[in-house]
Amino acid sequence: MSGRKLVLGILTFLLVAVPLFGQGCPPPSNIPIGNCAPKSGTPTNFSGDTGPMRTRKSIYALNATEIAELRLAFQKLRALPATDPRAWLAQGNVHCWYCAGDMSTAADVHTTWAFMPWHRDYLYMLEKILGQLVNNPSFALPYWDWNTPGACPTTGNHQQMPPPYTPKTVSSAANSLFDCYRQAVSTSTMSSSVVVNQTTTIMNNYNTFPLFFGSLTSSAALWPGPHGYVHLFVGNLAVGPAKTDMGVLETASRDPLFWAHHANIDRLWDVWVARYGTPAYPSNFLSQNWTFWNQGSPSHLIRITAADAANRSARMHYQYATPSCTPSSPITPMLLEEPETLEVGANPQTFTTEARPAARKFTLGGSTGHHVVLHLEEVTVPSDESAILRIFVGRPNATAAVMEDDHLVHELYIVPSHEPGTVHGKAAHQHSFNINIALPDAIAAEVEDAKGQVPVTIVPVTGNAEHVLNATPPAAHVKLRKPYFTAED
Ligand code: C2O
Repeated sequence: MSGRKLVLGILTFLLVAVPLFGQGCPPPSNIPIGNCAPKSGTPTNFSGDTGPMRTRKSIYALNATEIAELRLAFQKLRALPATDPRAWLAQGNVHCWYCAGDMSTAADVHTTWAFMPWHRDYLYMLEKILGQLVNNPSFALPYWDWNTPGACPTTGNHQQMPPPYTPKTVSSAANSLFDCYRQAVSTSTMSSSVVVNQTTTIMNNYNTFPLFFGSLTSSAALWPGPHGYVHLFVGNLAVGPAKTDMGVLETASRDPLFWAHHANIDRLWDVWVARYGTPAYPSNFLSQNWTFWNQGSPSHLIRITAADAANRSARMHYQYATPSCTPSSPITPMLLEEPETLEVGANPQTFTTEARPAARKFTLGGSTGHHVVLHLEEVTVPSDESAILRIFVGRPNATAAVMEDDHLVHELYIVPSHEPGTVHGKAAHQHSFNINIALPDAIAAEVEDAKGQVPVTIVPVTGNAEHVLNATPPAAHVKLRKPYFTAED
């Protein structure tokens, strides 16, 4: 490197890195994506956590000391030298690598059943790094329970940004939980129809392994739903390049809020298991494995599996505390009828009993099952564009303006992999995935009656993820195969 280049390099570093943690925000183009492939060295197999059991709590339940420790941990992460593979930007690049942001040979971990275990492993590794940086083996990431209905008595509206992450400074020092590149501000409020209702529907109705976790060829239920929504709420390409960290997969985990968001996605895995039991995880699900940087100094590459993730408590030694605010309307199963309440007064009462009705089964095209599933296949979006799609069944005239309708069966929030333009010299590729949507029983019955001949209408909508919808659909560059229905268990 020539002397002039070196001086330029140092100047660029100062311009980029120094203001980043201060009050000013450098243009995002000044922050390099860097080498998306943090892959060198020979990985060692993960041998299981040997530390104490850690408890992840709701961000709303942390006390002042815990928030200060969380801030210190991210401050130390940001302060690691860029050459340290544990460093803040390096961790962002790990996510970039696994979302195929550099169009390398790595498979995208977002559009298949890799989604749940990969993110669990990734969070585990960062949690251990942060715990090591603050010298606390019990350190645990908080989770942002955005699906807890708003108006909690003491913690306010969980559909807004968690307060510890929003100020730029705290006692005149930079707040390490703040990120410059967000569209959401402290007063922005998410659509509870997505983050509360849609999450409830998924938890109620997606009660089989393939529906909730996906498969080798189809997405996990949460991925293009509430998960994508929260990404696009916090950062959105559509509102300008300076507001996109969370809105683009290649930069998403640079925002400290990413980890709290994903801890909630991860917690929903536990909520699902508590409700339906441990599923029979397929062996080719469990054998998936990935490499990450560990907390050591120097850091080593560790190979960790989906089986480690599935055995979270034994292999990773962490658990979830329940949210600080219990939802005022508890989740009730939709598939079973509510038992009738009968009163016993002063006198003895005799009740007649009957067999509890079995959950409804549907028959379609010769197959029978508890669900009618709408299959959307090869949903293809340019990898540098976000898309919001509303899916209607039996409403051929639906438009973006139709807000409340029981035939609106799902909304998809598709997060782009990378920013527009070329990535490492190559043009945007297509982002393609399959998603299976379990229909509510009433709609499922209509589809059954019509023998599957029911129109499916896909309405692209603009606007940000707060549901400020524009009635004029954008020219969405979305393609998909002809949708179809099946009956499945
Ligand atoms: Cu790896 Cu929420 O994305």
